[in-house]
Amino acid sequence: MSMSIAKGPDSGSGVRNQRGTMDDEVIPPFTGNVREYHFTKKDFERVQKLIYACAGISLGQSKQDMVYSRLARRLRALKITRFSDYLDRLESSADSDSDEWQSFINAMTTNLTSFFREPHHFTILREHLARIGSRHSSDPVRIWCSASSTGEEPYTLAMTIVEHFKTFNPPVTIVASDIDTQVLEFARRGVYPMERVEQLSRERLQKFFLRGTGRNEGFCRVVDGLRRLITFEPINLLDAHWPLQGPYDAIFCRNVMIYFDKSTQLSIIRKMVPLLAADGLFFAGHSESFFHAADLIRPVGRTVYRALRPTDS
Ligand SMILES: C[S@@+](CC[C@H](N)C(=O)[O-])C[C@H]1O[C@@H](n2cnc3c(N)ncnc32)[C@H](O)[C@@H]1O
Repeated sequence: MSMSIAKGPDSGSGVRNQRGTMDDEVIPPFTGNVREYHFTKKDFERVQKLIYACAGISLGQSKQDMVYSRLARRLRALKITRFSDYLDRLESSADSDSDEWQSFINAMTTNLTSFFREPHHFTILREHLARIGSRHSSDPVRIWCSASSTGEEPYTLAMTIVEHFKTFNPPVTIVASDIDTQVLEFARRGVYPMERVEQLSRERLQKFFLRGTGRNEGFCRVVDGLRRLITFEPINLLDAHWPLQGPYDAIFCRNVMIYFDKSTQLSIIRKMVPLLAADGLFFAGHSESFFHAADLIRPVGRTVYRALRPTDS
């Protein structure tokens, strides 16, 4: 991951910002409790700039409490008592790939996901597999799950594929990536608390999961046959180059674009489109719309798109 972030002015300078508030004004907690660490508007603005620069994530003003509580854990771990000191340390870190940068990014991402989330997409994927299965090619079907979080999404893809091909050795490869290395590690292990799988059918649970016993009681693990189908890789969608080569028959990019502004979304779609196979599908999240990318992709179903080709009118 490459990042270049200039060090901002010192915090606590008392400079009036564009909104006319004092930069060193302490942000009161939403709940009214006293905060453990000194956290000012200036600190929040620095966090906004840093996470936007390195991950493309746009944090609105309503995220102040979230930022405080997530980063307070980093301050506690590093025994730092002021946010400004933590941010100084982060910004002055010569090696932008340092562990603390990664911890900062991991702390700032939101990883909400679930198995078979937005289930209509998996029906569409099955239809797509049936269509491309009849193509005369020995190439495997290739799928990229580009914000895979804790793994529920790529494992759902793998379950759908195994069910479709009726084998644990389908002609399919799945790459699952995320910027957050902690969730990737969780996904790689494939161990979930039972409540995370309780909405799955009994049949799927029996076929695709091993129930933990003894000290693993209350957990289950994805079977190796499913895990083998997926390669997990850290990829920052903001990076100029991704370590991937198309063509992909499907790219899942769901519920991540909502964290980006329109220009970031556009530049990511612009990079994804050439990676799609001619009939490849781009799957987006339920609240993501791409009218501003109408010259790149066109809707072909509920939050499913195809790349526009020169021959499309
Ligand atoms: C809300 S989760 C969505 C998970 C899954 N795609 C789904 O729809 O259930 C968003 C994921 O996007 C990841 N993410 C955020 N910014 C990213 C970036 N710049 N590059 C890659 N992944 C990113 C987060 O780490 C998080 O795991």
